[in-house]
Amino acid sequence: MSRLLLVSNRLPVTAERRRGKLTLKPSAGGLATGLHSVHDPGKGLWFGWSGLYDKPAELTPATDEWKRRGCVPVPLKRTEVRDYYEAYGNGVVWPLFHSLTDRMPLRPGPWDTYEKVNQRFADAVANELRADDVVWVHDYQLMRVPALLRAKAQNARIGFFLHIPFPAVEVFSALPGRERVLEGMLGADLVGFHTAGYMRNFAAAVERLLGLPVHGDRITYGGREVRLGVFPMGADISRYADPAPSRSRTPRPPIDRRLLLGVDRLDYTKGIPRRLLAFERLLETQPDLRGRVCFLQIAVPSRTDVPAYKRFRRHIDALVGRINGAYGTSAWTPVQYVARPVSQEQLVGLYRTCDVMVVTPLRDGMNLVAKEFVASRVDEDGALVLSEFAGAADEMPEALLVNPYDLDRVAEAMHDALLMSPDERRAHMRSMRRRVIHHDATHWAKSFLAALEETEATQPIAHERRTRTHLDAAVRRLVVRAAGTASHRLLLLDYDGTLTALAPTPGLAAPDRSLLSLLRTLAEQPATSVHIASGRDRNTLDTWLGGLPVGLHAEHGLWSRMSAGSEWTRADVLPTLPRQDDVMAILEEAVSRTPGTLIERKSTGIAWHYRQADPKLAAAELKRLRSALTKLLEGEAAEVLAGHKVLEVRLSGVDKGTAIAPTLEGIPQGTAIIAIGDDRTDEQLFSALPPDAMTIYVGEGPSRARLRLSSVAEVRLLLNDLARTSPGRPSEETPGGTHDPGPAPRGLMLVDA
Ligand code: ADP
Ligand code: G6P
Repeated sequence: MSRLLLVSNRLPVTAERRRGKLTLKPSAGGLATGLHSVHDPGKGLWFGWSGLYDKPAELTPATDEWKRRGCVPVPLKRTEVRDYYEAYGNGVVWPLFHSLTDRMPLRPGPWDTYEKVNQRFADAVANELRADDVVWVHDYQLMRVPALLRAKAQNARIGFFLHIPFPAVEVFSALPGRERVLEGMLGADLVGFHTAGYMRNFAAAVERLLGLPVHGDRITYGGREVRLGVFPMGADISRYADPAPSRSRTPRPPIDRRLLLGVDRLDYTKGIPRRLLAFERLLETQPDLRGRVCFLQIAVPSRTDVPAYKRFRRHIDALVGRINGAYGTSAWTPVQYVARPVSQEQLVGLYRTCDVMVVTPLRDGMNLVAKEFVASRVDEDGALVLSEFAGAADEMPEALLVNPYDLDRVAEAMHDALLMSPDERRAHMRSMRRRVIHHDATHWAKSFLAALEETEATQPIAHERRTRTHLDAAVRRLVVRAAGTASHRLLLLDYDGTLTALAPTPGLAAPDRSLLSLLRTLAEQPATSVHIASGRDRNTLDTWLGGLPVGLHAEHGLWSRMSAGSEWTRADVLPTLPRQDDVMAILEEAVSRTPGTLIERKSTGIAWHYRQADPKLAAAELKRLRSALTKLLEGEAAEVLAGHKVLEVRLSGVDKGTAIAPTLEGIPQGTAIIAIGDDRTDEQLFSALPPDAMTIYVGEGPSRARLRLSSVAEVRLLLNDLARTSPGRPSEETPGGTHDPGPAPRGLMLVDA
């Protein structure tokens, strides 16, 4: 049976130890209340923090209780809660994702603990995971979990939902650990957001910061297809829409007074001070309302150990005191403030008796209070003043929508709401209710889970991913076997994208120590020659690889150094690039028009790199550049070549094929030629080789190579395998764990480009 494994920082109940006794109380906040209806203890598990610190033994007394509720507590130490939850989660991510960057502390919370705790959650889930399970990870505290879990369970079906806004890329970029956060979320098969705006922001961040193209709602990442989707969360209607009158006594002002109501977690994103100031302005501008209206603010204390929340609470206390001091009388308290949770029944009672519900967060992922209020109004009466910056505003255009920073407008909206005719109130409420009741929490969860299931069914890459791993292993086996039985070996290797991953700027792709040692071991094997043919200039190649006993070919073959210690020689072509000043002028203009792009000068070539630029801007510029340069260089001995996020102008008549031609001269019969590359310029290398050469293309896309490996990591594995074998002596242990590699697997050969 397929089970649903929910994973969130908080469990639906929070444990508290009071005078040695353990009590469980419902957790506050939209996530816990929204997911409540989704969790069925008989059919799934819910992983989360219990609310207690440390000592797994403390959890033991309640073990049966956790089990009964289908909960799996993940133990956290006090210091871990401090660093992961309070400092990084609520100190850094929470304000930043709500675009309130000035609330971020000077010293950001430590990333390491965030990663460590996310790993613990992933481990806890992996321990329980069965083949058919569906895992649904929630919210900003656990953004690394999808990738960490994926690393342990490649084929798991994982969904991720972000309950808070995803900010504009300019704001998100300020997050320490931003790339790892994005990569973490991309470990899921489906990433869900409350609104289309948040999803667009996420897509822009992935494009800009990870350099990955996003096609509509799809991103190809790590050989998988990740889907994005918009799923506005709904309220748990069963708790609010029941027409039976609430039995609970609710605090309310005398009947002849109109009641405005605010209900929130005590959080600075909720806009409570500005809301109270707007109410004060209403009293100021409409003196006839004094004594006739009350504002009741219910606020449940939240994150009381986070310094920003402590300050915030004091601020509200003072503000309420000041307004009441300025306007209150012995018979009338304008603002009534209740700083504690109220019961579910009381809440329904309040929603039903207030005249105007005021929900004015500065920014809010969704805001369920607005939806609960609407669901509760079985009488189809009551007015809603709602912030434009709450996710719920997208679905409630009938509400009085306000900019919460514009106090005059909020005060006016409160006034308009009080004056609204009963017919108008009913028309608005009826239409909002229909939507809210239909799109409830169950509907939300069902749509997300259905879309998650679809990702499996419609995802060819998911299937290909599994076959790809087998194919990569098969290619490695085939090459190692052929190279092992050959008398000599000639390795012709591209550098960027083949031996090292493509880096944001050319200077950042220097070889690491393990690559240098791998290349040396390979080149020092008997009867083995290694040549590296790159588009890089010769100074860079000399600095990075000059000390190795390998041949080097720079600038796509313009310069060659056939072996260690020999001189660099230049191909017999023009001394300089024709019209290079004009080319330079055109490229410089492109750089000034497209921020993030840069020019790389080589001795007879010029390259324009756009990996770091805004993808849409760069695509438009690329089109313009290609046509301008092709026109400029018509009839000249120069060509314009497009590579991975680079456009290069270079001398024609020389390429990687011509450069390595001398290495083929006089090679002994029975030499195994292995050529590996990932770029358009490597196609010229492949086509210059004899048909029995083992040409290998790295990555996806068309190529004339005979074989394919999926990544730089696979290339390194192959080279490692080769380094362990000598020509004429196949390895004792065939890579991939089988002794007989057998015939080439189906689908291994590629069709010519
Ligand atoms: P958030 O997720 O930021 O907490 P939401 O409005 O989405 O905001 O969800 C808040 C949830 O907490 C709602 O289900 C609401 O009913 C509940 N809640 C808010 N304030 C109180 C309170 N004072 N007492 C009881 N429940 C509350
Ligand atoms: C918001 C967040 C939730 C969080 C809730 C309560 O709804 O999106 O992830 O659980 O607030 O906050 P707390 O820090 O008490 O869990």
